[in-house]
Amino acid sequence: MREARIASVRARQILDSRGNPTVEVDVALTSGAVGRAAVPSGASTGIHEAVELRDGGKAWGGKGVGAAVANVGGEIAGAVIGLDATDQRAVDARLVELDGTPNKGRLGANAILGVSMAAAKAAAAHAGQPLWRWLGGEGASRLPVPMLNVINGGAHADNAIDFQEFMVVPAGADSFAEALQVGAEVFHSLKGLLHERGLSTAVGDEGGFAPELPTAEAAIEAVLEAAERAGHRDRVAIALDPAATEFFHDGCYRVDGGELDGGALSDLYARLADRFPLVSVEDGLAEDEWDGWRALTERLGDRLQLVGDDLFVTNVERLRRGTELGVGNAILVKVNQIGTLTETFDAIELARASGYASVMSHRSGETEDTTIADLAVATGVGQIKTGAPSRTDRVAKYNQLLRIEEELGERAEYPGWSAFPRARR
Ligand code: PGA
Ligand code: ZN
Repeated sequence: MREARIASVRARQILDSRGNPTVEVDVALTSGAVGRAAVPSGASTGIHEAVELRDGGKAWGGKGVGAAVANVGGEIAGAVIGLDATDQRAVDARLVELDGTPNKGRLGANAILGVSMAAAKAAAAHAGQPLWRWLGGEGASRLPVPMLNVINGGAHADNAIDFQEFMVVPAGADSFAEALQVGAEVFHSLKGLLHERGLSTAVGDEGGFAPELPTAEAAIEAVLEAAERAGHRDRVAIALDPAATEFFHDGCYRVDGGELDGGALSDLYARLADRFPLVSVEDGLAEDEWDGWRALTERLGDRLQLVGDDLFVTNVERLRRGTELGVGNAILVKVNQIGTLTETFDAIELARASGYASVMSHRSGETEDTTIADLAVATGVGQIKTGAPSRTDRVAKYNQLLRIEEELGERAEYPGWSAFPRARR
């Protein structure tokens, strides 16, 4: 086989799903293999995330990525050209070392991640393998249970719902393809139901509806009623991402018209878990409320998946602190929160070794890039959230998972309810 050394690295500014600039990178190898990757971007970003480099100024509302693009084509290209792209760990280590800051703020996590992902894709192309197989090896066969965000609130929509995401989880399906069908049928049923009630069926950033519903309870009831009408009530569960950091101000949580402390908000989750088939709550409390998180975990961790997103930011150091303190029992995995694939895999490894679940995740700003679908299968994490079954930036990932399931054929495994061992049914 010809050598797989990095021969060229090019970047350009493209648009993401919100119409904001983002970085796309092309990596070409000496063998002629090429890889292309585009970088996602969040809106409800945690303060501990790796830093996106944005140009500021007037153009693009300050969100241009000209400097990040220049860093890829300049300093970064200079450092990685000649490296063996099949050694992802070495490529990523070089990127981290070159940046030299703890949060990748010098060269930009957006610049670095674009190169890390494009190098992986080029290496997979060189090996003549799909990305999931290249990164996951022969054993990779586990599809994720999708968590489809069908009602959007918080920072992703202009409605008054405080919780950011209400997800339908087709854990009772027998395959990924069937899960996607269940999710899509519930989505369409929900559209009909909202329409009947005179509520908006316009969608938010992640493709879910953004109706003016008064409370979290009302939103969950609407999703379950839609599932019932679609004939899927017993095959779905509910997952929430309140994204509590976003409504935490001056020590209290402003939610559904009230002001709650961490204990009272945990009471609300307990009530929701009593009433509804709730399996997962992400960022139930704010990103630095370690004591509150520990109390929440002690109280509900044996019956709910408690996922740290802004809390853990795909960062092994923050995750380790969480495992030591008994905080949460799952991590949300977002490649751009940490900035390289290797560090992403390390976070998943630590989670696995600590008995924590991992959920592969998109960002609210996405592109047509489907890398995370392949990563979900490569790592076998068993869960993915990548929005509603609507809008191409979301559906592209689900469609890629359909292809992977087809490629795996008989070997494909769909974990279903076993992805949520804590859930009471
Ligand atoms: P973000 O939202 O991509 O806007 O950060 C996603 C999430 O909070 O899970
Ligand atoms: Zn989140």
